[in-house]
Amino acid sequence: MFTFGKRSAKFLIALSIVAGLISYPAHAQAQKAAAKASPATQASANDWWKGAVVYEIYPRSFQDSNGDGIGDLNGITSRLDYLKVLGVDAIWLSPIYPSPQVDFGYDISDYENIDPAYGTLADFDRLVAEAKKRDIKIVMDMVMNHTSDKHKWFIESASSKTNPKRDWYVWKDGKAPGVPPNNWQSDFGHSAWQFDPKTNQYYYHKFYIQQPDLNWDNPQVRKAMYDTCRFWMKRGVYGFRLDAIPTLFEDPQDRDEQVVKDANGNPKINAYGDQELITEGMTDNLPKVHDVEKELRQVINEFPGRILIGETYFSNVADLRRSYGIKNDELHLPMDFQVGMINKLDPAAFRLRINEAETQINGNEPLFVFDNHDNPRLDARYGDGVHDLEIERMISTVLFTSRDTALFYYGDEIGMKTTPPTRIEDVKDPVGRTGWPKEKGRDGERTPMQWTPGPNAGFTTGTPWLPIPPTYKTVNVETEVSDYDSLLNWYKQLIELRRNNPVVATGKNVMLNTSDTKVLAWARQIDGQPTVVIACNFTAEPQKFAFDLSGTNLTTKQAKTLMKTPGSADPASLDEVNLPPFGVYIGQVQ
Ligand code: GLC
Repeated sequence: MFTFGKRSAKFLIALSIVAGLISYPAHAQAQKAAAKASPATQASANDWWKGAVVYEIYPRSFQDSNGDGIGDLNGITSRLDYLKVLGVDAIWLSPIYPSPQVDFGYDISDYENIDPAYGTLADFDRLVAEAKKRDIKIVMDMVMNHTSDKHKWFIESASSKTNPKRDWYVWKDGKAPGVPPNNWQSDFGHSAWQFDPKTNQYYYHKFYIQQPDLNWDNPQVRKAMYDTCRFWMKRGVYGFRLDAIPTLFEDPQDRDEQVVKDANGNPKINAYGDQELITEGMTDNLPKVHDVEKELRQVINEFPGRILIGETYFSNVADLRRSYGIKNDELHLPMDFQVGMINKLDPAAFRLRINEAETQINGNEPLFVFDNHDNPRLDARYGDGVHDLEIERMISTVLFTSRDTALFYYGDEIGMKTTPPTRIEDVKDPVGRTGWPKEKGRDGERTPMQWTPGPNAGFTTGTPWLPIPPTYKTVNVETEVSDYDSLLNWYKQLIELRRNNPVVATGKNVMLNTSDTKVLAWARQIDGQPTVVIACNFTAEPQKFAFDLSGTNLTTKQAKTLMKTPGSADPASLDEVNLPPFGVYIGQVQ
Protein backbone atom coordinates (compact mmCIF):
# COMPACT_ATOMS: atom_id res chain seq x y z
CA MET A 1 0.00 0.00 0.00
CA PHE A 2 1.35 3.43 -0.84
CA THR A 3 0.83 5.62 2.18
CA PHE A 4 0.81 9.32 1.56
CA GLY A 5 4.00 9.95 3.53
CA LYS A 6 5.93 7.26 1.67
CA ARG A 7 4.69 8.30 -1.68
CA SER A 8 5.42 11.91 -1.07
CA ALA A 9 9.05 11.18 -0.09
CA LYS A 10 9.65 9.05 -3.18
CA PHE A 11 7.80 11.52 -5.27
CA LEU A 12 10.06 14.34 -4.12
CA ILE A 13 13.16 12.32 -4.88
CA ALA A 14 11.86 11.58 -8.36
CA LEU A 15 10.93 15.17 -8.93
CA SER A 16 14.32 16.41 -7.76
CA ILE A 17 16.16 14.04 -10.04
CA VAL A 18 14.13 14.87 -13.09
CA ALA A 19 14.48 18.54 -12.37
CA GLY A 20 18.24 17.97 -12.04
CA LEU A 21 18.20 19.14 -8.40
CA ILE A 22 20.07 16.16 -7.02
CA SER A 23 22.48 13.85 -8.73
CA TYR A 24 22.28 10.10 -8.86
CA PRO A 25 24.51 9.17 -5.89
CA ALA A 26 22.31 11.13 -3.50
CA HIS A 27 19.30 9.45 -4.95
CA ALA A 28 20.96 6.04 -4.73
CA GLN A 29 21.59 6.48 -1.02
CA ALA A 30 18.04 7.57 -0.42
CA GLN A 31 16.72 4.62 -2.37
CA LYS A 32 19.06 2.17 -0.69
CA ALA A 33 17.86 3.25 2.71
CA ALA A 34 14.24 2.69 1.76
CA ALA A 35 14.08 -0.06 -0.82
CA LYS A 36 13.99 -3.79 -0.32
CA ALA A 37 16.31 -5.83 -2.53
CA SER A 38 14.68 -6.18 -5.92
CA PRO A 39 13.77 -9.64 -7.24
CA ALA A 40 16.37 -9.07 -9.92
CA THR A 41 19.10 -8.78 -7.30
CA GLN A 42 17.74 -11.74 -5.35
CA ALA A 43 17.71 -14.02 -8.36
CA SER A 44 20.99 -15.34 -9.61
CA ALA A 45 22.80 -12.46 -11.30
CA ASN A 46 22.77 -14.25 -14.63
CA ASP A 47 18.99 -14.44 -14.56
CA TRP A 48 18.63 -10.67 -14.14
CA TRP A 49 16.37 -10.55 -17.20
CA LYS A 50 13.62 -12.66 -15.66
CA GLY A 51 10.91 -10.28 -14.55
CA ALA A 52 13.06 -7.34 -15.66
CA VAL A 53 11.78 -4.07 -17.06
CA VAL A 54 13.27 -3.24 -20.45
CA TYR A 55 12.95 0.19 -22.07
CA GLU A 56 13.33 0.68 -25.81
CA ILE A 57 15.11 3.88 -26.83
CA TYR A 58 14.97 5.12 -30.39
CA PRO A 59 18.23 7.11 -30.07
CA ARG A 60 17.42 9.59 -32.81
CA SER A 61 14.42 10.78 -30.84
CA PHE A 62 15.33 10.50 -27.16
CA GLN A 63 17.57 13.44 -26.21
CA ASP A 64 19.77 15.67 -28.32
CA SER A 65 22.88 16.98 -26.54
CA ASN A 66 24.56 19.04 -29.28
CA GLY A 67 21.75 21.00 -30.88
CA ASP A 68 21.75 19.24 -34.27
CA GLY A 69 18.14 18.13 -33.83
CA ILE A 70 19.05 14.43 -33.64
CA GLY A 71 19.17 12.51 -30.38
CA ASP A 72 22.56 11.09 -29.40
CA LEU A 73 24.42 8.89 -26.93
CA ASN A 74 25.43 11.74 -24.62
CA GLY A 75 21.79 12.74 -24.55
CA ILE A 76 20.83 9.25 -23.41
CA THR A 77 23.56 9.27 -20.74
CA SER A 78 22.20 12.56 -19.43
CA ARG A 79 18.79 10.91 -18.93
CA LEU A 80 19.94 7.79 -17.10
CA ASP A 81 18.83 9.16 -13.74
CA TYR A 82 15.33 9.52 -15.10
CA LEU A 83 15.35 5.90 -16.22
CA LYS A 84 16.76 4.79 -12.88
CA VAL A 85 13.98 6.53 -10.98
CA LEU A 86 11.44 5.02 -13.34
CA GLY A 87 12.77 1.57 -12.41
CA VAL A 88 14.26 0.42 -15.71
CA ASP A 89 16.61 -2.61 -15.55
CA ALA A 90 17.82 -2.58 -19.16
CA ILE A 91 17.76 -0.35 -22.20
CA TRP A 92 17.39 -1.71 -25.71
CA LEU A 93 19.02 0.78 -28.07
CA SER A 94 17.75 0.81 -31.63
CA PRO A 95 20.77 0.80 -34.00
CA ILE A 96 23.49 3.38 -33.41
CA TYR A 97 26.08 1.98 -35.83
CA PRO A 98 27.36 3.94 -38.84
CA SER A 99 24.59 3.95 -41.41
CA PRO A 100 23.42 5.91 -44.44
CA GLN A 101 20.16 6.15 -42.40
CA VAL A 102 17.87 5.04 -45.22
CA ASP A 103 16.08 2.89 -42.63
CA PHE A 104 17.31 5.10 -39.77
CA GLY A 105 20.06 2.78 -38.64
CA TYR A 106 18.64 -0.57 -39.69
CA ASP A 107 20.90 -0.30 -42.74
CA ILE A 108 24.32 -0.76 -41.13
CA SER A 109 27.52 0.08 -42.99
CA ASP A 110 29.93 -0.80 -40.15
CA TYR A 111 28.98 -3.15 -37.33
CA GLU A 112 31.82 -2.16 -35.02
CA ASN A 113 31.55 1.58 -34.68
CA ILE A 114 29.13 4.39 -33.81
CA ASP A 115 27.45 6.70 -36.31
CA PRO A 116 28.94 10.19 -35.86
CA ALA A 117 25.38 11.56 -35.60
CA TYR A 118 25.07 9.61 -32.34
CA GLY A 119 28.61 10.09 -30.99
CA THR A 120 31.77 8.03 -30.70
CA LEU A 121 32.87 4.72 -29.24
CA ALA A 122 34.15 6.71 -26.25
CA ASP A 123 30.66 8.16 -25.76
CA PHE A 124 29.27 4.65 -25.98
CA ASP A 125 31.72 3.34 -23.37
CA ARG A 126 30.74 6.20 -21.09
CA LEU A 127 27.07 5.38 -21.54
CA VAL A 128 27.71 1.73 -20.63
CA ALA A 129 29.79 2.74 -17.60
CA GLU A 130 27.28 5.32 -16.34
CA ALA A 131 24.43 2.87 -16.87
CA LYS A 132 26.33 0.23 -14.93
CA LYS A 133 26.69 2.61 -11.97
CA ARG A 134 22.92 2.73 -11.91
CA ASP A 135 22.54 -1.02 -12.39
CA ILE A 136 21.07 -0.53 -15.87
CA LYS A 137 22.14 -2.88 -18.65
CA ILE A 138 22.55 -1.98 -22.29
CA VAL A 139 21.14 -4.28 -24.98
CA MET A 140 22.07 -3.53 -28.59
CA ASP A 141 20.01 -4.01 -31.71
CA MET A 142 21.74 -6.51 -34.01
CA VAL A 143 20.65 -6.51 -37.63
CA MET A 144 21.79 -9.81 -39.11
CA ASN A 145 19.40 -10.34 -41.98
CA HIS A 146 20.92 -7.60 -44.12
CA THR A 147 23.52 -4.85 -44.24
CA SER A 148 23.51 -1.48 -45.91
CA ASP A 149 24.38 -1.48 -49.61
CA LYS A 150 27.20 0.86 -48.52
CA HIS A 151 28.77 -1.79 -46.28
CA LYS A 152 32.21 -2.75 -47.59
CA TRP A 153 31.10 -6.39 -47.76
CA PHE A 154 28.34 -5.53 -50.21
CA ILE A 155 30.48 -3.14 -52.22
CA GLU A 156 32.97 -5.99 -52.69
CA SER A 157 30.22 -8.51 -53.33
CA ALA A 158 28.69 -6.34 -56.04
CA SER A 159 32.02 -5.66 -57.71
CA SER A 160 32.17 -8.91 -59.70
CA LYS A 161 30.72 -12.41 -59.88
CA THR A 162 34.05 -13.85 -58.83
CA ASN A 163 34.71 -11.61 -55.86
CA PRO A 164 35.35 -13.67 -52.69
CA LYS A 165 32.43 -11.85 -51.03
CA ARG A 166 30.01 -12.55 -53.91
CA ASP A 167 28.45 -15.41 -51.96
CA TRP A 168 28.01 -13.30 -48.82
CA TYR A 169 24.75 -11.99 -50.30
CA VAL A 170 21.86 -13.58 -52.20
CA TRP A 171 22.53 -13.16 -55.94
CA LYS A 172 20.44 -14.90 -58.62
CA ASP A 173 19.91 -14.85 -62.35
CA GLY A 174 16.63 -13.47 -63.61
CA LYS A 175 14.07 -15.84 -65.14
CA ALA A 176 14.46 -14.06 -68.45
CA PRO A 177 15.81 -10.66 -69.51
CA GLY A 178 14.08 -8.08 -67.30
CA VAL A 179 12.25 -10.74 -65.26
CA PRO A 180 13.26 -11.23 -61.60
CA PRO A 181 13.98 -14.74 -60.25
CA ASN A 182 10.50 -15.07 -58.70
CA ASN A 183 7.56 -13.12 -57.24
CA TRP A 184 8.99 -12.41 -53.77
CA GLN A 185 8.30 -8.93 -52.44
CA SER A 186 9.97 -6.55 -50.09
CA ASP A 187 8.15 -5.94 -46.81
CA PHE A 188 8.43 -2.28 -47.78
CA GLY A 189 6.71 -2.71 -51.15
CA HIS A 190 7.34 -4.08 -54.64
CA SER A 191 9.78 -6.74 -55.85
CA ALA A 192 12.39 -8.03 -53.39
CA TRP A 193 14.86 -8.37 -56.28
CA GLN A 194 17.09 -5.56 -57.45
CA PHE A 195 18.82 -5.85 -60.81
CA ASP A 196 22.51 -5.02 -60.94
CA PRO A 197 23.46 -4.21 -64.55
CA LYS A 198 27.17 -4.54 -63.81
CA THR A 199 27.06 -8.27 -63.13
CA ASN A 200 23.72 -8.94 -64.79
CA GLN A 201 22.20 -10.57 -61.70
CA TYR A 202 19.59 -9.68 -59.11
CA TYR A 203 20.19 -9.37 -55.38
CA TYR A 204 17.52 -10.13 -52.81
CA HIS A 205 16.34 -7.56 -50.25
CA LYS A 206 13.58 -8.40 -47.78
CA PHE A 207 13.46 -4.72 -46.81
CA TYR A 208 14.62 -1.58 -48.67
CA ILE A 209 16.65 -1.83 -51.88
CA GLN A 210 19.52 -0.35 -49.86
CA GLN A 211 19.35 -3.34 -47.46
CA PRO A 212 20.71 -6.39 -49.33
CA ASP A 213 20.12 -9.70 -47.53
CA LEU A 214 23.14 -11.61 -46.27
CA ASN A 215 23.51 -15.25 -47.27
CA TRP A 216 23.30 -17.14 -43.99
CA ASP A 217 24.24 -20.42 -45.69
CA ASN A 218 27.75 -19.00 -45.95
CA PRO A 219 29.78 -19.94 -42.82
CA GLN A 220 31.98 -16.85 -43.23
CA VAL A 221 28.92 -14.61 -42.85
CA ARG A 222 27.99 -16.42 -39.67
CA LYS A 223 31.48 -16.09 -38.24
CA ALA A 224 31.68 -12.38 -39.08
CA MET A 225 28.38 -11.70 -37.33
CA TYR A 226 29.21 -13.80 -34.29
CA ASP A 227 32.52 -11.94 -33.94
CA THR A 228 30.60 -8.67 -34.05
CA CYS A 229 28.49 -9.87 -31.12
CA ARG A 230 31.69 -10.70 -29.21
CA PHE A 231 33.06 -7.22 -29.98
CA TRP A 232 30.10 -5.55 -28.26
CA MET A 233 29.86 -7.99 -25.38
CA LYS A 234 33.52 -7.29 -24.60
CA ARG A 235 32.50 -3.61 -24.38
CA GLY A 236 29.97 -4.49 -21.69
CA VAL A 237 26.81 -4.99 -23.73
CA TYR A 238 24.35 -7.37 -22.04
CA GLY A 239 22.83 -8.88 -25.13
CA PHE A 240 21.08 -8.28 -28.38
CA ARG A 241 17.67 -7.67 -29.80
CA LEU A 242 17.84 -9.69 -33.00
CA ASP A 243 16.24 -7.71 -35.78
CA ALA A 244 14.04 -9.62 -38.25
CA ILE A 245 15.59 -12.89 -37.09
CA PRO A 246 12.94 -15.19 -38.65
CA THR A 247 13.78 -13.92 -42.13
CA LEU A 248 17.44 -14.98 -42.32
CA PHE A 249 16.81 -17.75 -44.87
CA GLU A 250 14.88 -18.13 -48.11
CA ASP A 251 13.47 -21.17 -49.90
CA PRO A 252 16.46 -22.94 -51.50
CA GLN A 253 14.41 -23.65 -54.62
CA ASP A 254 13.31 -20.01 -55.00
CA ARG A 255 9.69 -21.04 -55.46
CA ASP A 256 7.05 -18.35 -55.96
CA GLU A 257 5.02 -17.37 -52.93
CA GLN A 258 1.28 -18.00 -52.99
CA VAL A 259 -1.06 -15.09 -53.58
CA VAL A 260 -3.63 -14.41 -50.83
CA LYS A 261 -7.21 -14.33 -52.20
CA ASP A 262 -10.18 -12.40 -50.87
CA ALA A 263 -13.68 -13.86 -50.33
CA ASN A 264 -14.44 -13.51 -54.08
CA GLY A 265 -11.29 -15.32 -55.09
CA ASN A 266 -9.53 -12.13 -56.24
CA PRO A 267 -5.93 -11.40 -55.22
CA LYS A 268 -5.73 -9.23 -52.10
CA ILE A 269 -3.89 -5.95 -52.71
CA ASN A 270 -1.82 -4.31 -49.97
CA ALA A 271 -1.12 -0.63 -49.17
CA TYR A 272 1.67 -0.52 -51.77
CA GLY A 273 -0.63 -1.75 -54.53
CA ASP A 274 1.08 -5.18 -54.56
CA GLN A 275 -0.56 -8.57 -54.31
CA GLU A 276 -0.43 -9.99 -50.80
CA LEU A 277 1.73 -13.11 -50.58
CA ILE A 278 2.12 -15.93 -48.06
CA THR A 279 5.73 -15.58 -46.93
CA GLU A 280 5.72 -18.31 -44.27
CA GLY A 281 8.17 -21.09 -45.14
CA MET A 282 9.45 -19.27 -48.25
CA THR A 283 11.09 -16.06 -47.04
CA ASP A 284 10.05 -16.24 -43.41
CA ASN A 285 10.39 -18.68 -40.55
CA LEU A 286 12.47 -21.35 -42.30
CA PRO A 287 13.66 -24.18 -40.00
CA LYS A 288 17.32 -23.29 -40.56
CA VAL A 289 16.80 -20.15 -38.43
CA HIS A 290 16.92 -22.46 -35.41
CA ASP A 291 20.43 -23.64 -36.29
CA VAL A 292 21.62 -20.03 -36.25
CA GLU A 293 19.77 -19.30 -33.01
CA LYS A 294 21.53 -22.28 -31.40
CA GLU A 295 24.93 -21.11 -32.63
CA LEU A 296 24.24 -17.61 -31.42
CA ARG A 297 23.27 -18.92 -28.01
CA GLN A 298 26.67 -20.63 -27.80
CA VAL A 299 28.37 -17.35 -28.63
CA ILE A 300 26.30 -15.53 -26.03
CA ASN A 301 27.10 -18.19 -23.44
CA GLU A 302 30.77 -17.25 -23.68
CA PHE A 303 29.80 -14.15 -21.64
CA PRO A 304 27.77 -14.79 -18.46
CA GLY A 305 24.39 -13.16 -18.06
CA ARG A 306 24.00 -12.02 -21.67
CA ILE A 307 20.69 -12.47 -23.44
CA LEU A 308 19.09 -12.87 -26.84
CA ILE A 309 15.81 -11.09 -27.48
CA GLY A 310 14.09 -11.87 -30.78
CA GLU A 311 11.97 -9.69 -33.02
CA THR A 312 9.55 -12.55 -33.51
CA TYR A 313 6.16 -11.67 -34.94
CA PHE A 314 4.55 -15.11 -34.79
CA SER A 315 0.95 -15.97 -35.45
CA ASN A 316 0.80 -18.91 -33.04
CA VAL A 317 2.18 -20.03 -29.71
CA ALA A 318 3.84 -23.15 -31.20
CA ASP A 319 6.27 -20.98 -33.17
CA LEU A 320 6.91 -18.86 -30.10
CA ARG A 321 7.63 -21.95 -28.00
CA ARG A 322 9.93 -23.33 -30.69
CA SER A 323 12.07 -20.21 -30.71
CA TYR A 324 13.15 -20.80 -27.09
CA GLY A 325 14.71 -24.01 -28.49
CA ILE A 326 13.63 -27.60 -28.02
CA LYS A 327 16.26 -27.83 -25.29
CA ASN A 328 15.89 -24.16 -24.30
CA ASP A 329 19.08 -23.51 -26.19
CA GLU A 330 17.96 -20.72 -28.55
CA LEU A 331 16.46 -17.31 -27.65
CA HIS A 332 16.06 -16.28 -24.02
CA LEU A 333 13.25 -13.90 -24.86
CA PRO A 334 11.47 -14.14 -28.21
CA MET A 335 9.01 -11.24 -28.24
CA ASP A 336 5.42 -12.31 -27.70
CA PHE A 337 3.50 -9.96 -29.97
CA GLN A 338 0.42 -12.14 -29.75
CA VAL A 339 -0.73 -10.26 -26.67
CA GLY A 340 0.55 -6.78 -27.50
CA MET A 341 -0.73 -6.68 -31.04
CA ILE A 342 -4.28 -7.88 -30.39
CA ASN A 343 -5.08 -4.21 -31.09
CA LYS A 344 -8.58 -4.56 -29.70
CA LEU A 345 -9.81 -4.37 -26.11
CA ASP A 346 -11.18 -7.89 -26.11
CA PRO A 347 -10.81 -9.56 -22.69
CA ALA A 348 -11.28 -13.06 -24.16
CA ALA A 349 -8.42 -12.58 -26.60
CA PHE A 350 -6.15 -11.15 -23.87
CA ARG A 351 -7.06 -14.03 -21.53
CA LEU A 352 -6.34 -16.65 -24.17
CA ARG A 353 -3.01 -15.20 -25.25
CA ILE A 354 -1.72 -14.46 -21.74
CA ASN A 355 -2.71 -17.93 -20.62
CA GLU A 356 -0.96 -19.49 -23.62
CA ALA A 357 2.22 -17.70 -22.64
CA GLU A 358 1.79 -18.96 -19.09
CA THR A 359 1.08 -22.58 -19.96
CA GLN A 360 2.42 -23.38 -23.42
CA ILE A 361 6.02 -22.16 -23.65
CA ASN A 362 7.57 -24.87 -21.50
CA GLY A 363 7.61 -22.66 -18.40
CA ASN A 364 9.91 -20.17 -20.09
CA GLU A 365 9.80 -16.46 -19.43
CA PRO A 366 7.40 -14.60 -21.75
CA LEU A 367 8.42 -11.22 -23.12
CA PHE A 368 5.35 -9.03 -23.47
CA VAL A 369 5.56 -5.88 -25.53
CA PHE A 370 2.79 -3.54 -26.62
CA ASP A 371 4.65 -0.92 -28.52
CA ASN A 372 7.76 -0.19 -30.56
CA HIS A 373 9.24 2.01 -33.28
CA ASP A 374 7.44 0.12 -36.08
CA ASN A 375 3.83 0.37 -34.99
CA PRO A 376 1.44 3.21 -34.20
CA ARG A 377 1.56 3.93 -30.47
CA LEU A 378 -0.94 2.63 -27.92
CA ASP A 379 -3.41 5.50 -28.42
CA ALA A 380 -3.83 4.60 -32.09
CA ARG A 381 -4.21 0.87 -31.52
CA TYR A 382 -6.13 0.71 -28.24
CA GLY A 383 -7.42 4.20 -27.49
CA ASP A 384 -10.99 5.37 -28.03
CA GLY A 385 -10.11 9.08 -28.17
CA VAL A 386 -12.01 9.73 -24.93
CA HIS A 387 -10.46 7.45 -22.31
CA ASP A 388 -6.94 7.08 -23.71
CA LEU A 389 -5.28 7.81 -20.38
CA GLU A 390 -7.37 5.19 -18.57
CA ILE A 391 -6.76 2.68 -21.36
CA GLU A 392 -3.00 3.31 -21.25
CA ARG A 393 -3.12 2.77 -17.48
CA MET A 394 -4.89 -0.52 -18.06
CA ILE A 395 -2.50 -1.75 -20.75
CA SER A 396 0.50 -0.92 -18.55
CA THR A 397 -1.15 -2.83 -15.72
CA VAL A 398 -1.38 -5.91 -17.95
CA LEU A 399 2.25 -5.43 -18.94
CA PHE A 400 3.72 -4.96 -15.47
CA THR A 401 1.54 -7.25 -13.36
CA SER A 402 1.65 -10.31 -15.62
CA ARG A 403 4.40 -12.90 -15.23
CA ASP A 404 6.76 -11.66 -17.91
CA THR A 405 9.76 -9.62 -18.82
CA ALA A 406 8.14 -6.27 -19.55
CA LEU A 407 9.32 -4.29 -22.55
CA PHE A 408 8.03 -0.82 -23.30
CA TYR A 409 8.81 2.00 -25.69
CA TYR A 410 10.13 5.47 -24.78
CA GLY A 411 7.30 7.91 -24.26
CA ASP A 412 4.67 5.30 -23.44
CA GLU A 413 5.16 6.13 -19.78
CA ILE A 414 3.94 9.68 -20.36
CA GLY A 415 1.25 8.72 -22.89
CA MET A 416 2.85 10.09 -26.05
CA LYS A 417 0.44 10.07 -28.97
CA THR A 418 0.96 8.78 -32.48
CA THR A 419 1.52 11.85 -34.65
CA PRO A 420 1.84 10.84 -38.32
CA PRO A 421 2.79 13.37 -40.98
CA THR A 422 -0.11 15.09 -42.72
CA ARG A 423 1.67 15.81 -46.01
CA ILE A 424 3.70 13.39 -48.11
CA GLU A 425 6.50 15.96 -48.46
CA ASP A 426 7.08 15.80 -44.69
CA VAL A 427 7.48 12.00 -44.59
CA LYS A 428 10.92 10.82 -43.45
CA ASP A 429 10.41 7.04 -43.41
CA PRO A 430 10.61 5.96 -47.09
CA VAL A 431 7.89 3.36 -46.62
CA GLY A 432 5.48 6.22 -45.96
CA ARG A 433 6.20 7.66 -49.39
CA THR A 434 5.80 4.31 -51.16
CA GLY A 435 2.53 3.61 -49.37
CA TRP A 436 1.07 7.14 -49.10
CA PRO A 437 -1.69 7.77 -48.13
CA LYS A 438 -2.71 4.26 -47.04
CA GLU A 439 0.63 3.63 -45.33
CA LYS A 440 2.09 6.81 -43.87
CA GLY A 441 5.24 5.15 -42.56
CA ARG A 442 6.55 5.07 -39.03
CA ASP A 443 7.34 8.74 -38.35
CA GLY A 444 4.21 9.04 -36.21
CA GLU A 445 5.60 6.77 -33.48
CA ARG A 446 9.14 8.15 -33.66
CA THR A 447 8.58 11.78 -32.71
CA PRO A 448 10.96 13.29 -30.12
CA MET A 449 10.59 12.46 -26.45
CA GLN A 450 8.60 15.10 -24.63
CA TRP A 451 10.58 16.16 -21.57
CA THR A 452 9.23 19.62 -20.74
CA PRO A 453 6.48 22.08 -21.75
CA GLY A 454 9.29 24.41 -22.93
CA PRO A 455 10.83 24.96 -26.39
CA ASN A 456 11.04 21.77 -28.47
CA ALA A 457 9.79 19.85 -25.45
CA GLY A 458 13.33 19.93 -24.02
CA PHE A 459 14.48 17.50 -26.71
CA THR A 460 16.82 19.82 -28.58
CA THR A 461 18.00 23.41 -28.77
CA GLY A 462 18.08 23.06 -32.57
CA THR A 463 15.48 22.02 -35.12
CA PRO A 464 14.13 18.56 -34.27
CA TRP A 465 14.45 15.98 -37.07
CA LEU A 466 10.74 15.20 -36.69
CA PRO A 467 8.23 17.78 -35.47
CA ILE A 468 7.34 17.90 -31.78
CA PRO A 469 3.68 16.84 -31.44
CA PRO A 470 1.37 19.62 -30.21
CA THR A 471 0.48 17.50 -27.15
CA TYR A 472 3.87 18.27 -25.53
CA LYS A 473 2.44 21.15 -23.50
CA THR A 474 0.64 18.71 -21.22
CA VAL A 475 2.12 15.32 -22.16
CA ASN A 476 5.68 15.67 -20.89
CA VAL A 477 7.89 14.38 -18.09
CA GLU A 478 8.23 17.64 -16.16
CA THR A 479 4.49 18.25 -15.98
CA GLU A 480 3.61 14.65 -15.18
CA VAL A 481 6.19 14.17 -12.49
CA SER A 482 4.50 16.85 -10.43
CA ASP A 483 1.05 15.31 -10.83
CA TYR A 484 0.73 12.29 -8.59
CA ASP A 485 -2.14 10.87 -10.65
CA SER A 486 -0.28 11.14 -13.96
CA LEU A 487 0.43 8.19 -16.22
CA LEU A 488 4.14 8.60 -15.48
CA ASN A 489 3.58 8.08 -11.78
CA TRP A 490 1.27 5.15 -12.51
CA TYR A 491 4.11 3.48 -14.46
CA LYS A 492 6.55 4.25 -11.69
CA GLN A 493 4.28 2.77 -9.03
CA LEU A 494 3.58 -0.36 -11.09
CA ILE A 495 7.29 -0.94 -11.61
CA GLU A 496 7.94 -0.35 -7.92
CA LEU A 497 5.21 -2.82 -7.01
CA ARG A 498 6.84 -5.37 -9.28
CA ARG A 499 10.25 -4.78 -7.75
CA ASN A 500 9.11 -4.88 -4.16
CA ASN A 501 6.53 -7.66 -4.29
CA PRO A 502 8.00 -11.06 -5.29
CA VAL A 503 4.51 -12.40 -6.08
CA VAL A 504 3.99 -9.68 -8.69
CA ALA A 505 7.53 -10.19 -9.96
CA THR A 506 7.54 -13.94 -10.43
CA GLY A 507 4.32 -15.57 -9.15
CA LYS A 508 2.36 -17.81 -11.48
CA ASN A 509 -0.47 -16.26 -13.47
CA VAL A 510 -3.92 -17.77 -12.89
CA MET A 511 -6.76 -16.41 -15.00
CA LEU A 512 -9.98 -15.70 -13.06
CA ASN A 513 -13.63 -15.15 -14.13
CA THR A 514 -12.74 -16.86 -17.38
CA SER A 515 -16.05 -16.25 -19.14
CA ASP A 516 -16.34 -12.57 -18.29
CA THR A 517 -16.66 -10.52 -21.47
CA LYS A 518 -16.03 -7.13 -19.85
CA VAL A 519 -13.40 -7.56 -17.18
CA LEU A 520 -10.03 -9.26 -17.42
CA ALA A 521 -9.06 -10.64 -14.02
CA TRP A 522 -6.19 -12.76 -12.84
CA ALA A 523 -4.29 -13.81 -9.75
CA ARG A 524 -0.56 -13.98 -9.09
CA GLN A 525 0.50 -16.68 -6.69
CA ILE A 526 3.54 -18.11 -4.93
CA ASP A 527 2.96 -20.87 -2.36
CA GLY A 528 3.07 -19.52 1.15
CA GLN A 529 2.82 -15.86 0.14
CA PRO A 530 -0.24 -13.60 -0.08
CA THR A 531 -1.96 -13.80 -3.46
CA VAL A 532 -2.27 -10.64 -5.56
CA VAL A 533 -5.42 -10.21 -7.66
CA ILE A 534 -5.88 -7.83 -10.55
CA ALA A 535 -8.99 -6.68 -12.42
CA CYS A 536 -9.15 -4.46 -15.51
CA ASN A 537 -12.41 -3.12 -16.84
CA PHE A 538 -12.16 -3.38 -20.63
CA THR A 539 -15.27 -1.27 -21.20
CA ALA A 540 -16.25 2.40 -21.17
CA GLU A 541 -18.98 1.69 -18.58
CA PRO A 542 -18.43 1.32 -14.84
CA GLN A 543 -18.53 -2.33 -13.73
CA LYS A 544 -19.38 -3.85 -10.36
CA PHE A 545 -17.06 -6.80 -10.30
CA ALA A 546 -16.91 -9.90 -8.08
CA PHE A 547 -13.68 -11.90 -8.20
CA ASP A 548 -14.44 -15.61 -8.69
CA LEU A 549 -11.71 -17.33 -6.68
CA SER A 550 -13.12 -20.84 -7.08
CA GLY A 551 -10.19 -21.88 -9.27
CA THR A 552 -7.72 -20.96 -6.52
CA ASN A 553 -7.10 -22.25 -3.00
CA LEU A 554 -8.30 -18.95 -1.50
CA THR A 555 -11.04 -18.90 1.09
CA THR A 556 -11.22 -15.21 1.96
CA LYS A 557 -12.48 -12.27 -0.02
CA GLN A 558 -10.75 -9.65 2.07
CA ALA A 559 -8.00 -7.72 0.38
CA LYS A 560 -5.73 -4.77 0.89
CA THR A 561 -5.61 -2.35 -2.02
CA LEU A 562 -2.17 -2.12 -3.64
CA MET A 563 -3.11 0.14 -6.54
CA LYS A 564 -6.32 1.38 -8.11
CA THR A 565 -7.47 3.89 -10.67
CA PRO A 566 -7.09 7.35 -9.11
CA GLY A 567 -10.31 8.50 -7.47
CA SER A 568 -11.89 5.04 -7.23
CA ALA A 569 -13.04 3.60 -3.91
CA ASP A 570 -11.44 0.79 -1.90
CA PRO A 571 -13.78 -2.21 -2.09
CA ALA A 572 -15.30 -3.62 1.10
CA SER A 573 -14.54 -7.09 -0.28
CA LEU A 574 -13.45 -8.77 -3.51
CA ASP A 575 -17.15 -9.46 -4.16
CA GLU A 576 -17.86 -5.84 -4.83
CA VAL A 577 -15.13 -4.02 -6.65
CA ASN A 578 -16.38 -0.89 -8.38
CA LEU A 579 -14.31 -0.41 -11.50
CA PRO A 580 -14.63 2.94 -13.29
CA PRO A 581 -14.55 2.97 -17.12
CA PHE A 582 -11.32 1.19 -18.12
CA GLY A 583 -10.55 1.13 -14.39
CA VAL A 584 -7.97 -1.03 -12.62
CA TYR A 585 -7.87 -2.66 -9.21
CA ILE A 586 -4.88 -4.49 -7.72
CA GLY A 587 -5.31 -6.06 -4.29
CA GLN A 588 -3.42 -8.33 -1.93
CA VAL A 589 -5.65 -11.05 -0.53
CA GLN A 590 -5.50 -11.10 3.28
C1 GLC B 1 12.84 -4.55 -38.11
C2 GLC B 1 12.99 -3.18 -37.49
C3 GLC B 1 12.47 -2.16 -38.47
C4 GLC B 1 13.32 -2.24 -39.71
C5 GLC B 1 13.32 -3.65 -40.28
C6 GLC B 1 14.39 -3.83 -41.29
O1 GLC B 1 11.52 -4.88 -38.32
O2 GLC B 1 12.31 -3.12 -36.27
O3 GLC B 1 12.49 -0.86 -37.95
O4 GLC B 1 12.82 -1.35 -40.69
O5 GLC B 1 13.59 -4.61 -39.28
O6 GLC B 1 15.64 -3.80 -40.69
